[in-house]
Amino acid sequence: MHSHIRLSLCLLAALASLSLNARPKDDYGYRVRNGVIVYNVPSRPSDQQSMLGFACDPIPNVRVGFIGLGSRGPGALKRFAHLEGATITALCDLLPERVEAAQVMLDELNIPRADSYSGEEGYKELCLRDDIDLVYLAVPWQLHTTMAVYAMEHGKHVAIEVPAATSIKECWELVNTAERTRRHCIMLENCCYDFFELTCLNMAQKGVFGEVVHVEGAYCHNLDPFWDKYQGDWRMLFNREHSGDVYPTHGLGPVCQVLNIHRGDKMDVLVSMDSDAFRGQEIADRRYGKGACKYANGDNTSTLIRTRKGKTILIEHSTITPRPYDRMYQIQGTEGFANKYPNQGIAIGSSLAPDLDIEDLDAEHYMSAEARDSALVRYQHPITRTGDLVQLAKKVGGHGGMDFIMDYRLIYCLNHGLPLDMDVYDAAEWSSLVELTEVSITNGYKPVLIPDFTRGEWDRTDGLQFAR
Ligand SMILES: NC(=O)c1ccc[n+]([C@@H]2O[C@H](COP(=O)([O-])OP(=O)(O)OC[C@H]3O[C@@H](n4cnc5c(N)ncnc54)[C@H](O)[C@@H]3O)[C@@H](O)[C@H]2O)c1
Repeated sequence: MHSHIRLSLCLLAALASLSLNARPKDDYGYRVRNGVIVYNVPSRPSDQQSMLGFACDPIPNVRVGFIGLGSRGPGALKRFAHLEGATITALCDLLPERVEAAQVMLDELNIPRADSYSGEEGYKELCLRDDIDLVYLAVPWQLHTTMAVYAMEHGKHVAIEVPAATSIKECWELVNTAERTRRHCIMLENCCYDFFELTCLNMAQKGVFGEVVHVEGAYCHNLDPFWDKYQGDWRMLFNREHSGDVYPTHGLGPVCQVLNIHRGDKMDVLVSMDSDAFRGQEIADRRYGKGACKYANGDNTSTLIRTRKGKTILIEHSTITPRPYDRMYQIQGTEGFANKYPNQGIAIGSSLAPDLDIEDLDAEHYMSAEARDSALVRYQHPITRTGDLVQLAKKVGGHGGMDFIMDYRLIYCLNHGLPLDMDVYDAAEWSSLVELTEVSITNGYKPVLIPDFTRGEWDRTDGLQFAR
């Protein structure tokens, strides 16, 4: 290579690095300071505004484009077929045969066929249409952010399956794009809508547990029957490459709502620790050939989080060893306690729940099943008291009905021009654990400061509210 060409290339490289350094908003990296991992929080560009409390004009009929019609997507179609205020306008999958199978499903549900898109980039054509309000994504994790950003940039609201993002960079891309385009970006965290969780949230908000001091959540689900079903092996490949809690949001979402995260409190610091990949490696050896790869994801990953207001959260991830399904869901307060798995149990002192009219309440023992059931009725969350919504949800199904309640709430809020129950900061905060736990583990289990995706506004909203 001629020396002057080499010189110009060096100059270009130097200029490129200078311009990168001059734009801190593009720096999504971290540094280790005094043994603590600290991420850069990029400042908000001047053309963006906070999405806290964001609402848009009412959309009486929400026209929806569905992307991803594998295991999860078709269930959403079935639920939307039972929702008033929404129309299934377009369907898209990489594989045309999956789009056709979904069209047949629409025939069986007695609703008109939608327009079809397929191939790697079919989603772009769908997003370019101007008669779609909401793009509903049920694709592999690796595609969530790219597709969501594209949809928002083309004027669509987006609903993204869990986790919404797989890295801190992607979390910021979702936040920045939602703030810039003023589009809703909601993560479809269905576990926030399970009946016990909603009722306990209501109890916590009414002070029945006293001050909530510690909460727990998990995704413990042996995926042996499912590993072969993911298109292109996307899930095993992600687990193979990454340690950490790669699927944190089912555990984290419901308990963050109890703690009013970014609505008065903030997740401040976490430490994550994993076991070795004993069974994970065994399965990878069988699947890809002995010694073909090192399986990164530990069989069990535990993460402890402390909040700015002095509360603690324990989150677990375990998908590879045989064990009963468990999302933990536990709330410990100064006056009471609730626990979901393996049996739903509540323990509270009588002074805190005078409405219950149950004798001999004692916070050191679970109340009887009869007393618990009457407490669950007494404190049923307002959003599940709407007409025959619960019966319909249980009939339509989707994890026992919680998926239907989630979709119902999304469409209800869009129909009425209300803020959504979960915003882009929830999506970013809950998904951020994917990278943050991996970084804690791979740096020798170091504490990691959790970035503030609201950029200083975590205390601006006074508690979580579901708009009605
Ligand atoms: N909330 C829940 O309870 C729950 C349950 C299951 C799955 N999920 C989530 O749903 C998502 C999908 O999971 P799944 O089990 O259905 O996986 P899957 O592999 O069965 O389905 C993914 C689909 O996306 C399609 N796809 C891939 N590339 C595409 C592209 N470029 N354009 C359009 N379509 C493309 C695939 O062909 C496939 O049909 C994941 O994010 C997963 O975490 C959530």
